[in-house]
Amino acid sequence: MSDRIHTLSGYFHEYQKSVADPENFWARVADSFHWKKRWDKVLDWDFEGPDVKWFLNGKLNITENILERHLYTIGDKPAIIWEPNEPGEDSRTLTYRQLYEEVCRFSHVLQEKGVQKGDKVIIYMPMVPEAAVAMLACARVGAVHSVVFAGFSSNALSDRINDCEAKVVLTADGNFRGNKKIPVKAVVDEALEKTSTVTSVIVYQRTGQEVTMKEGRDFWWHEAIEGKGTQQEAVEMDSEDMLFILYTSGSTGKPKGVVHTCGGYMVYSKYTFENVFQYNPGDVYWCTADIGWITGHSYIVYGPLLSGATSIMFEGVPTYPHAGRFWEIVDKYKVNQFYTAPTAIRALQAHGTEPIEPFKLDSLKVLGSVGEPINEEAWHWYHTHIGKTKCPIVDTWWQTETGGIMVSPLAGITPTKPAYATLPLPGVQLAIMDPDGKEMTGNSVEGNLCIKFPWPGMIRTTYGDHDRCRQTYFATYKGMYFTGDGVKRDHDGYYRILGRVDDVINVSGHRMGTAEVENAINEHPLVVESAVVGYPHQVKGQGIYAYVICDMKNRSEQSLTNEIKDTVTKIIGPIAKPDKIQIVPGLPKTRSGKIMRRILRKVAEGNMDNMGDTSTLLDPDVVEKIIEGRIE
Ligand code: WT7
Repeated sequence: MSDRIHTLSGYFHEYQKSVADPENFWARVADSFHWKKRWDKVLDWDFEGPDVKWFLNGKLNITENILERHLYTIGDKPAIIWEPNEPGEDSRTLTYRQLYEEVCRFSHVLQEKGVQKGDKVIIYMPMVPEAAVAMLACARVGAVHSVVFAGFSSNALSDRINDCEAKVVLTADGNFRGNKKIPVKAVVDEALEKTSTVTSVIVYQRTGQEVTMKEGRDFWWHEAIEGKGTQQEAVEMDSEDMLFILYTSGSTGKPKGVVHTCGGYMVYSKYTFENVFQYNPGDVYWCTADIGWITGHSYIVYGPLLSGATSIMFEGVPTYPHAGRFWEIVDKYKVNQFYTAPTAIRALQAHGTEPIEPFKLDSLKVLGSVGEPINEEAWHWYHTHIGKTKCPIVDTWWQTETGGIMVSPLAGITPTKPAYATLPLPGVQLAIMDPDGKEMTGNSVEGNLCIKFPWPGMIRTTYGDHDRCRQTYFATYKGMYFTGDGVKRDHDGYYRILGRVDDVINVSGHRMGTAEVENAINEHPLVVESAVVGYPHQVKGQGIYAYVICDMKNRSEQSLTNEIKDTVTKIIGPIAKPDKIQIVPGLPKTRSGKIMRRILRKVAEGNMDNMGDTSTLLDPDVVEKIIEGRIE
């Protein structure tokens, strides 16, 4: 932990160094890892392409920095502690030695199935330790993993399989979530009907529910690992070889595959983990995310395990079997750092403080927040009732594309301010842009958040479509990475993230493109056209409000809107299901046919006093009709 910052002046000092000489700064951090061959050059970059390379010609395998590195020093220390959905079921611990052995065994399985360096492997699994083993085994053999959140539909899954031309799918029979037993393998079966590249499916047995196994294609995990060796030579990777692809939503209809590479991601995920959470050897750390999201990648698996930390993995949900489950787990394992999303905090806040009372929570040292802006009320509740006012809250701003945390307090070091992500981490050079594309300098300014210099964990491309990467992130402001978020820098120079400024909404910390939801709605045969906007939601942060033009065919509105919800669930998954669907006679369009979303957002928010200029609308009357039919 040589690159740990301990004081506020230490932070400012490191930050200065990282800006004055980024290459030396990151070379020093990277030196603490095991490289099979050291890099020749630290950085090559150009944001026009974009073309960014870190640690050029360095050779490594990230899993050696997780497994071999810790085998002889902390081999008996828990790497992963798994807490099952059902509190009565036994928990499981994988020590660093056991993790090493499991990853090696499964690496042999992958190779036996013909997986080679560069091959794509889809991981569609519940929150079980084997999901982490699967990721690491891919990395070990040089395969590129793409984890798909197990709540996504078969359509969403087959789209991703097709986009990356995956060779193997790793999955499970089913998934225990609260009082539900969700089929998983059956979804894979359905997805595979629309794909042609997958040659093997390996199924981890979790629920014991019945599944169909296709001869020659489907194999049980426990049978496949039988007799496999517990050692395996890690495949040599270049720093810029792909480590994983993770699909995320943007403002267009189709999710894009964000590509992260081996060297830079390794350096960045570990550095940010140790500094933000101030993790000390022996601490127990828990991030409640799902490995299907970037938070799970960087801060359940890679960051903590690169640091030799003990990382808790929880299979269940915050409110099962009771609203105190999180706190019960904190006490059970004496969790020191706890990292969750504002939506979970708000959902638990709604249950009051009674569910917290039986628990001590005295092991907690640091609380974290991620995924969406945390409102002040939730911040104070978290701080008072969970942190007992003694735990700093790290409000961590970052994105799938950034690979790791970008703006955040360092726990216990950076003075916090409710709802503020505070200051950039070393190596992160922020810029706030005005509507004319000029950088706004000084304090007390508000604009669009950009980053003007590369950092090791950044996106390298969008899989299969490099121009899309350029268009989406590097074309809006010349020479800058554009985040899609609005931001304020206050009088102290502190950053507060204001939310997305593009057509992306954030529902319970899940990122969703409005166009993607519209496309799904339009799949319903009676839908003529639709427009989706976000609106403020008490628990979810944002809810999904859909305006839909339908051919009613004598249907009741009720049955039609239910059918539309089912369609969205089928096409994307339950997380994209609209909260409100309003059947409308028309949409507010300009003469050039563009939907004026500003108006639809105002109606959804219930903010109808000032609709702004509607004179350019093709049919201004439609606004009145929409307001009349507004859903509370
Ligand atoms: C978007 C990225 C990166 C972890 C999980 C989400 C929003 C994320 C914060 C925060 C305000 C936040 C932004 C960002 N966001 N963290 N601390 N405060 N907003 O990853 O799915 O890629 O979404 O989440 O709008 O752009 P993601």
